[in-house]
Amino acid sequence: MIGPPGSGKSMVAKRIPTIMPEPTLDEFLEILGIQSAAGVSLYGEGRYFQRPFRSPHHTISDVGLLGGGTQPGPGEISLAHHGVLFLDELPEFKRSALEVLRQPLEDGEVTISRSAAKITLPCSFMLVAAMNPCPCGYLSDPRRECRCSPTQIQRYRSRISGPLLDRIDLHIEAPAVSITDMRKGQPGESSAAIRERIVASRQLQRARFADSPATTSNARMSHRQIREHCAVTPEQGDLLQRAMEELQLSARAYDRILKVTRTIADLAGAEQIETPHLLEAIQYRSLDRNLFY
Ligand SMILES: Nc1ncnc2c1ncn2[C@@H]1O[C@H](COP(=O)(O)OP(=O)(O)O)[C@@H](O)[C@H]1O
Ligand SMILES: [Mg+2]
Ligand SMILES: [Zn+2]
Repeated sequence: MIGPPGSGKSMVAKRIPTIMPEPTLDEFLEILGIQSAAGVSLYGEGRYFQRPFRSPHHTISDVGLLGGGTQPGPGEISLAHHGVLFLDELPEFKRSALEVLRQPLEDGEVTISRSAAKITLPCSFMLVAAMNPCPCGYLSDPRRECRCSPTQIQRYRSRISGPLLDRIDLHIEAPAVSITDMRKGQPGESSAAIRERIVASRQLQRARFADSPATTSNARMSHRQIREHCAVTPEQGDLLQRAMEELQLSARAYDRILKVTRTIADLAGAEQIETPHLLEAIQYRSLDRNLFY
């Protein structure tokens, strides 16, 4: 999420676990296992059926994030297992921390090597990140003047590498909201109502992958499964190719866009992928272009 201070990025991030399906019993036991290994409590009172939400500060060390240390233990990415890892002020994180995050993000597990021992811990988490559009924060806010120079803005944004951005499927711009707009606004949908839709689409996904239990959701589809379940018409294929060229997207982004398209179609209850689903998935890649030109 990219947007000026006060646009609701942190508010949205904290609510993501409330729209995710409850953990299954197996997932819950894994979460508890990590919790006891770390000697921390991952649950607030009465929230046992919610997934973990971890929000480490940007000054965190690589070990704090990945795990390890003299007494090897789980890091934040494992504490966020089956839940959300929220990195607020993403460009403020050390470059090294963001780079070491990439592999575990892809694998869903992390191997911590020490001279004495080597352990593998699960870390299947959803990465949610927030940033301001520029160092002062107000570039996209019509009510305030941004005082950052183009060079400062460029330097700030380039702290997030292309390969990391590549692995973020949904780029959302959070627009500045005025008090007047907020007071006028209709109350939005409740988390419970959104969660119902998500649970229904997850059921669809479970049925789709009944023969391959390792694939727990669309996000975990292999290349072969993508070809099977994300079939597009020749016209849609052309459209995607043109968008990829225009946005200068990598080959990795190609598969990822198709997975997101499948999920959008699932949420709409559509068996076949339709062009609006594909267009929606493509427009969630907007930062690829904006950040690196
Ligand atoms: N779009 C919005 N709708 C309703 N309330 C909002 C919205 N944006 C911001 N707020 C209010 O402003 C507060 C500050 O937002 P916050 O999530 O801290 O912004 P950010 O993290 O983008 O700086 C929120 O707790 C919420 O009360
Ligand atoms: Mg915030
Ligand atoms: Zn600025």
